[in-house]
Amino acid sequence: MKTLVIGSGGREHALCWSLAASPMVSEVLCAPGNAGIAAVARCVAVAVDDIDGLVRLALAEAVGLVVVGPELPLTLGLVDRLAEAGIRAFGPSASAAQLESSKAFTKDFCTRHHIPTARYRTFTKDRAAEARAYVEAEGAPIVIKADGLAAGKGVVVALTLDEALAAVDDAFAGGFGEAGATLVVEECLVGEEASMFALCDGTHALEIGTAQDHKRAFDGDQGPNTGGMGAYSPAPILTDALVEQVMATIIRPTLKGMAEEGNPFQGFLYAGLMLTAEGPKLIEYNVRFGDPECQVVLPRLMTDLCQLLQGAIDGQLAHMSLRWFPAHALSVVMAANGYPGAYARNTEIRIPADLEGDDLLLFHAGTRAEGGRLLASGGRVLNVTGIGADLQQARDRAYAAVERIDWPDGFCRKDIGWRALARS
Ligand code: AMP
Ligand code: GLY
Repeated sequence: MKTLVIGSGGREHALCWSLAASPMVSEVLCAPGNAGIAAVARCVAVAVDDIDGLVRLALAEAVGLVVVGPELPLTLGLVDRLAEAGIRAFGPSASAAQLESSKAFTKDFCTRHHIPTARYRTFTKDRAAEARAYVEAEGAPIVIKADGLAAGKGVVVALTLDEALAAVDDAFAGGFGEAGATLVVEECLVGEEASMFALCDGTHALEIGTAQDHKRAFDGDQGPNTGGMGAYSPAPILTDALVEQVMATIIRPTLKGMAEEGNPFQGFLYAGLMLTAEGPKLIEYNVRFGDPECQVVLPRLMTDLCQLLQGAIDGQLAHMSLRWFPAHALSVVMAANGYPGAYARNTEIRIPADLEGDDLLLFHAGTRAEGGRLLASGGRVLNVTGIGADLQQARDRAYAAVERIDWPDGFCRKDIGWRALARS
């Protein structure tokens, strides 16, 4: 069967790599892909927001399974459009993707279904005075969020009242763009953050990995927020008992509630969690795999990914289970100097031919090939994933490989994994 993966990041490289290893898959296509993906898939230059173009491509190539990586095409209704065209696609409908595209939708949904999350109120632009009054009554620290997708820039964790009021004013003045026309003001949760992924078929969910990300650009969790500078899996803080608690109090009630409301969720559900003294609470949902979390979860997965995704589309997950290699994985993101601010493009990267092996995988993000050279073409550029019997070994392997990559114009965090290693 031909499969088509949508996207061009490290997550999509990991998805293509995993699907290419499946005996069920005859060929992997990727739109638009990158220089690394081209080694395992046929890349086709169709952009992720060109919904008509993607549907045309899937029909022309008689693709048997489409796997959507990023949120944008999901929220634009790609899966709905593919279904209308008779093409099997893994990922939620635009309506179910509201779990990521609208924070107000998700918060109201959590209230209806008693899913533990931070206390909150939502305010539209015409109620700015009420928003300010609510913030003043609640006090700092407090969290101000844009309702819509804001590419990770829509959240202000305000430590002082002045900062919180400034964030409200700024959002209503257009500081978060269109996404900030409605604000969610919520209680600041205290605890450690961790992520859990669920594979969902509309009624049933299977846990498909835990991870911890590193959102800040620099060591010691300093500097601006990014898409993620590194991750490891499993996350030791999410014990088996906590995983079961998250499934019972957050994931399963979500699947049940969405189905009851006529909005069943099929796809990867990514729960961003705060592990508070009162138990795990949902910070946010994403309706896709995490990036770079996917690059540390899939290398540990023993079960055939294609079989699992087909099972999800067919509503068969109640009859399936996952098997894992007894391994830990840690990925270091190499980004262009200046990221997440302005950075240079088209700088050359030199990678030793023998870098990759059974315990070292290199997933490309913003790369392109030109005249036999490898060039950086984005902010996050490479994901260097080490695999080991424990986290320390996975980390040592990842950083040893980073040392061998010759890219003077890139940087990485040197402390990926610190939280889990401090605990062990
Ligand atoms: P989000 O875009 O919703 O993932 O938020 C970005 C980051 O803001 C999260 O990863 C948390 O570190 C932080 N954050 C969001 N909501 C809260 C909250 N209610 N309490 C504490 N921190 C939060
Ligand atoms: N690494 C965070 C995300 O994928 O949203």
